Amino acid sequence: MKNISVIGSGTMGNGIAHVYAQSGFAVNLVDISADALARALKTIEKNLDRMVAKERIDEATKNSTLANITTHTDLKTGVANADLVIEAATENVDIKLKIFRDLDAFTKPECILASNTSSIPITKIGAATNRPDKVIGMHFMNPVPVMKLVEVINGYATAAEVTALVMETSKKLGKVPVEVNDYPGFVANRILMPMINEAIISLFEGVAGVEEIDTVMKLGMAHPMGPLQLADFIGLDVCLSIMNVLYEGFGNPKYAPCPLLVNMVTAGYLGVKSGEGFYSWNHGTKELIVSKQFKK
Ligand SMILES: NC(=O)c1ccc[n+]([C@@H]2O[C@H](COP(=O)([O-])OP(=O)(O)OC[C@H]3O[C@@H](n4cnc5c(N)ncnc54)[C@H](O)[C@@H]3O)[C@@H](O)[C@H]2O)c1
Repeated sequence: MKNISVIGSGTMGNGIAHVYAQSGFAVNLVDISADALARALKTIEKNLDRMVAKERIDEATKNSTLANITTHTDLKTGVANADLVIEAATENVDIKLKIFRDLDAFTKPECILASNTSSIPITKIGAATNRPDKVIGMHFMNPVPVMKLVEVINGYATAAEVTALVMETSKKLGKVPVEVNDYPGFVANRILMPMINEAIISLFEGVAGVEEIDTVMKLGMAHPMGPLQLADFIGLDVCLSIMNVLYEGFGNPKYAPCPLLVNMVTAGYLGVKSGEGFYSWNHGTKELIVSKQFKK
């Protein structure tokens, strides 16, 4: 595999383009928004500059990484020579299914089509194409250049040789790929999101306050940040939507989202991105200040 196309140049797409380009692949980065593409290139350059300053890469690697990336707003030209496409567009079923139908039409028949989705079934995405054996999940973690894991998700029809190729390309990025099967939440979110939901239930039931819950998990379990802080970083709307995927996907009440989470999302308290969640963020993300809703 030489030519990689990345669809969507937001938080995840620019990170995926960065790591492939830095590993010497030719990357075509595609987005419907020219502004998003310009922002992505700026972000990649800024992240490379930080790596140069820390002496993790040299100036020549920075320049070759940037030279390996070409941007496109037209999907057809952006994927024409792709051996592997990684879709990291907005998490919306209709958008993803349309992209995969188009990818099926525009790419070479042997091209592998991967999705970075956090919650949409890979089997469903594969079924929208005429090559479900070549459709697979590549779930990178945020921030992509830093996080080692790639959760590689086999759809019901994914061929074993496709999985093997995707495991191999992930290793070429210096990542650690882990193979899992396609059930709601895969492994990462199936375990992480119920933990976050349980932290919110503990707060809702008055078992403990925001700082107490996060401190127990930080100091007691050596987690780098508490589950409520992490929920604020992920976005409470994203947490709610993934809990609903688990709840509906398994039909098991143990995955029911906490009513407090539902209320906060309805009221627009989404965490860092809205400025207020379990903590207040309007002053930036360095200092932890419990939101006034949860002050004792
Ligand atoms: N943000 C995370 O922490 C995280 C972690 C793991 C996986 N994911 C998954 O990665 C994917 C992308 O998430 P994100 O946080 O980078 O989103 P984002 O909102 O930052 O970026 C999405 C980009 O997709 C573009 N886009 C929308 N429709 C498009 C189309 N038809 N063709 C091309 N581009 C299109 C948008 O213009 C935008 O630039 C989602 O599936 C999400 O579930 C996100």
